[in-house]
This record gives sequence, structure tokens and C-alpha cells, in this order.
Amino acid sequence: MGNGKVKVGIIGSKFEADIHAASFQLMPEEAEVVAVASPTPGNAAELAGRYGIPRVFLDYREMLREPDIEMVTIAAPNALHRQMTCDAARAGKHVVCEKPFAMTLEEGDEMIDVCRAEGVLLMYAEELFFTPKYVKAKEMADQGAFGKVHLVKQSEKHFGPHGDWFWDVSKSGGGVWMDMGCHGIAFCYWFLGRPKIESVYCQMGTYVHGDKTIGEDEVIGIIEFAGGALGMVEDSWARRGGMDDRIEVFGDGGVTYGNLHMGNALPTYSESGYGYAVEKAPSTTGWSYPVFEELWNYGFPQEMRHFARCVRGKETPQATGEDGRVVLEALCAGYASAGLGSKVALPYRPKGLRRPIDGWKGAAAK
Ligand SMILES: NC(=O)c1ccc[n+]([C@@H]2O[C@H](COP(=O)([O-])OP(=O)(O)OC[C@H]3O[C@@H](n4cnc5c(N)ncnc54)[C@H](O)[C@@H]3O)[C@@H](O)[C@H]2O)c1
Repeated sequence: MGNGKVKVGIIGSKFEADIHAASFQLMPEEAEVVAVASPTPGNAAELAGRYGIPRVFLDYREMLREPDIEMVTIAAPNALHRQMTCDAARAGKHVVCEKPFAMTLEEGDEMIDVCRAEGVLLMYAEELFFTPKYVKAKEMADQGAFGKVHLVKQSEKHFGPHGDWFWDVSKSGGGVWMDMGCHGIAFCYWFLGRPKIESVYCQMGTYVHGDKTIGEDEVIGIIEFAGGALGMVEDSWARRGGMDDRIEVFGDGGVTYGNLHMGNALPTYSESGYGYAVEKAPSTTGWSYPVFEELWNYGFPQEMRHFARCVRGKETPQATGEDGRVVLEALCAGYASAGLGSKVALPYRPKGLRRPIDGWKGAAAK
């Protein structure tokens, strides 16, 4: 095991790659980003310029040949997670894979198996496990603040993703359930102490963005956990006004509500507008709710610091490939339940699906 700062290579150079680079810069004592790889000429160089990253590659496989890189973060479209994870592991690099974990359960199993065989860590980038407000809620729950918790809700909503590939289910695997339902499932599972998921029921549809995608833009998911607790996950790509992310926790002895953005914002009215309010907010004129310390409030820097400390053996991974695999199984069950119109029991192991949304739309859907 090396010492000093963990040397990191980032795959991807746009939205989430920028968050990774910024996060390592915000908490620089454990890790440093030494390389970035992205295929569109100029894009990796631009990110590198912004964050002072010394090495730039067009092909991530070349970056994987750099012997000093110990950990790779994958911030590329979902359909590439499997190949990139396995390539990085075979090059002896520890892996941080973005959500959602993979396109199929077979892919997820392969990623876990290859990382285990190569003796590298496979860490799953679910930042809600590190979101300070949500961590506080879980600490209180674990101290008994709410008595026996029977219902946990998580919801994430905005008006649709920033990149074209999200709308193309062959690259994303599905719509908003795949993209943000993965956060809600992970949150409820983690919050409740990782009980087995017994069933998933989803109601979903494409209400606003049918011109762009066959993916769903509204979903309500209900998850039954062993031990009797319920998770409720509500996600939208059809909500105007920028990002909305919130939780609710109900027990026989108490309740708590967390609104990530509105709860950390300055209620603001401006005639002229200003620079930036919050992720995906369309404007800053009139009433708006600018957040401060956005990355910190989400937990991204804390998450990346934790992963680097895991590579050094200072901490044990709190968000793993196994977590990603559990969430992916629930995603698949959710799509299947929307197709059937009834809840689907877990374990759920669909055969021959290319992507989770096929459980709802059928494999023939383009
Ligand atoms: N944790 C979160 O809250 C969060 C938020 C946004 C995105 N994500 C996840 O991060 C991943 C990337 O999403 P994004 O928002 O950054 O998308 P994006 O469209 O902004 O960027 C995608 C990046 O992938 C790169 N890429 C595409 N093909 C590649 C290849 N063959 N080799 C290397 N790089 C390649 C593109 O060049 C681009 O830089 C997705 O899995 C997404 O679900 C997570």
C-alpha cells in the first residue's frame, strides 16, 4: 500500500467529472487528481485547465497504463460503467463508479467479480450516504430519535438532464427511475440499515418529454423492506424550477423532514438576475433560491475523501459495488412492476434484458 496522497485519474470531463475534480480540490489532503481522460478533443484539456490537472488523455485505456494512478473515478454514461470498471480493475486501479451501477445485473456481477479477483476496491459513488443533512438524520434515527422507523421517503426532481445521452435509453438504461430512483432506493436502504428489499412497486409514465425519449419522466416507487419498513421514492424530470431534493422520516416516536436545497438557500428576489442559483435552475430573475456550498451540502467532497482514505486502508468503504448491485436489482424490479401493474418480489433476476427499462417497455422498444 502506498502512502502520501492517493493519485487519481478521472474518466469523463463534463458534469460529474467536474464535480469529482472540484471535490478533490475542496478536500485536498488525502488525494490529488493527476489525470483526466475523455474522448472529445479539447474537453479533458478544458477540465484539466480549470483544476490544474497535469495529464490529459483522449483514450481512458491509455490513462490506465500510468503506473502511479491508484484510483480511477468513472463519470461517463451508464452503458460504459461495466467496461470501464473491468478495464480499470485489470489495470490494478481501485474503482469509484458513478450511479446507477450498471445496465444489467449480469454486468453488475461481473464488475464485482473482476474487482474482487484483481484485489481492488469497487466503490459506488452514492453521495447521499455522505450528505451532511441526511447523515445527521440517520444519526438521530440510530440514536432512537424517531422510535421505530416505519416510513422513509426520498425525492429528487428537476426538468430533465443536461446531456443528450440520458434521453437515449440504450446509453442510460432508462429514464428518471434509473437516473434518480437509484438515489432514492439507495437512501432508503442505507437509512434503514440495509435490510433486505422484499418487493418494489412503481407507477411511471412519460408526461412531458415524449418528444425526446421513451424513458419515464415521472415515477413513484414503493419499496417493502424486511422488518416491515416502507420506502417511498418519488422522482421527476418534469419539475420546473431547478433541482429539488428532500427526505422525510416517520417513526412511532418522531419525525424529521430534510429539504436539501430550499433548506440551505437564501430566499431571493432579483429584477436583474445574477450568476448561479442551484443545479438546473433555468433563471435567476424574480424569486429564486440560491444555495451556498452546494457540493459540500451534497457530500461530494466528503465522499471522495472517504474513498481515498479507503484506498489507504484508513477507512472501510461505506458505499460499495454490492450496494450498487442491490439498488440495480430494485431498479429492474421497479420497471418490471410498472410493466405488470403489480409489485414484484425480490430476489428478482430478469433473464436476457439489455437494460432495466425493457422490463417496462419490452425489449423491442428502441
Ligand atoms: N452522483 C450524482 O449525483 C450524479 C450526477 C450527475 C451524473 N452522475 C453520473 O455520472 C455519469 C456521467 O454523467 P454526467 O452528468 O457527467 O454526463 P455528461 O454528459 O455531463 O458527461 C459524460 C462524460 O462522459 C464522457 N465519455 C463518453 N464516452 C466516453 C469514453 N468512451 N471514454 C471516456 N469518457 C467518455 C464524455 O466525454 C463526457 O465527458 C453518469 O453515470 C451519471 O449517472 C451522477
